[in-house]
Amino acid sequence: MGSAALDGLAQALARRRSDGLERVRRTTESVQGPRLSVDGRELLAFASNDYLGLAGATEVIEAARDGARRYGAGAGASHLVTGHTAAHAALEAELAAFVRPCDGARALLFSSGYLANLAILTSLAGRTDAIFGDRLNHACLNDGALLSRASFERYPHGDVAALELRIEAVPARRRIVATDAVFSMDGDVAPLAALADVASRHDAWLVIDDAHGFGVLGNGRGSLAHCGLAGERIVYMGTLGKAAGVAGAFVAAHPLVIETLIQTARPYIYTTASPPMTVEALRASLALIAAGDARRARLAGLIAAFRAGAAGLPWKLLASPTPIQPLVLGDAATAVAVSEALLARGVLVPAIRPPTVPAGTARLRVSLSAAHTVADVAELCSALHAVARECSA
Ligand SMILES: Cc1ncc(COP(=O)(O)O)c(C=O)c1O
Repeated sequence: MGSAALDGLAQALARRRSDGLERVRRTTESVQGPRLSVDGRELLAFASNDYLGLAGATEVIEAARDGARRYGAGAGASHLVTGHTAAHAALEAELAAFVRPCDGARALLFSSGYLANLAILTSLAGRTDAIFGDRLNHACLNDGALLSRASFERYPHGDVAALELRIEAVPARRRIVATDAVFSMDGDVAPLAALADVASRHDAWLVIDDAHGFGVLGNGRGSLAHCGLAGERIVYMGTLGKAAGVAGAFVAAHPLVIETLIQTARPYIYTTASPPMTVEALRASLALIAAGDARRARLAGLIAAFRAGAAGLPWKLLASPTPIQPLVLGDAATAVAVSEALLARGVLVPAIRPPTVPAGTARLRVSLSAAHTVADVAELCSALHAVARECSA
């Protein structure tokens, strides 16, 4: 390869570094949990999406081991060849009954939420259709919309009136409204009932990405149960690598939607099925989610303790009722500096920068887990106050 091509990459990477946007991977050496061994250091971490503390739960780990003994380490093929095991079939039935977005709903497993969103939007929409997405939606809903070749409009965050004006203005054969249920970098909950109402009045599908609500909201059943919503035009996507603590995702919807995905969704058809041992781990995890009111109550207590302890910090704490508790600092360099100052005190809170969040809203994304203790949250708050004092000195 000519060196001009490599020089171009080197310059772009250097620019990214000087703009404070370089991303660096850390290496974790321990079991998931609040106390992590990272790059050889013990840290108190507020950085995962393991909201219920299930990634390290003994029952889940044992189920993975039993699953590996029964099925082997991998699925060996895609679902439509021989990769679809009895474990996958059982988990799909259990998830459909648990989330139940409409009468008779089915569920379909995917190996990641990213792929599930690509699948939904590319199967339901094409060139003659229109997709409307909240401006703060996760990148994979945006990518799915772009890949579908439908027209794609982003409406202002949570603004149902603006959405409705756009839906009325755009001619399309089929319309789809797509939204995160819990916004991943803000922690707020979408106005799902109002969105469902708009979707039903305009004969549109409502695609709900509940990556951060499944397991946490609605007694674990997710954002639909939290909002008391159900209906045949709802396409629900829940991920299984966050509160469920393992990996993968599922779509739950009317059987005709699920059959359409099986027949046409390229991110479903052209990829190896998830290892059945992770699926068995997820079946154990789903049982813990269903019986997880004590974990969710503990989490609610920690969220309240953090919000009280963060009072008086010089940064804006967003109005989030979920375990995602963002402190907005503004520019990327400040967010990185504060995150590093916390790290120096043994506390890991990631700095989130553009393009993941809009320019000027770089933040610390504090995420809480039922596995944290009240003392962990107190330690975080005192580290934050100490760093804030250092910054103002
Ligand atoms: C809102 C949202 N949707 C989808 C995803 C993708 O899920 P997965 O990590 O399973 O690919 C994520 C996070 O990764 C997310 O935050």
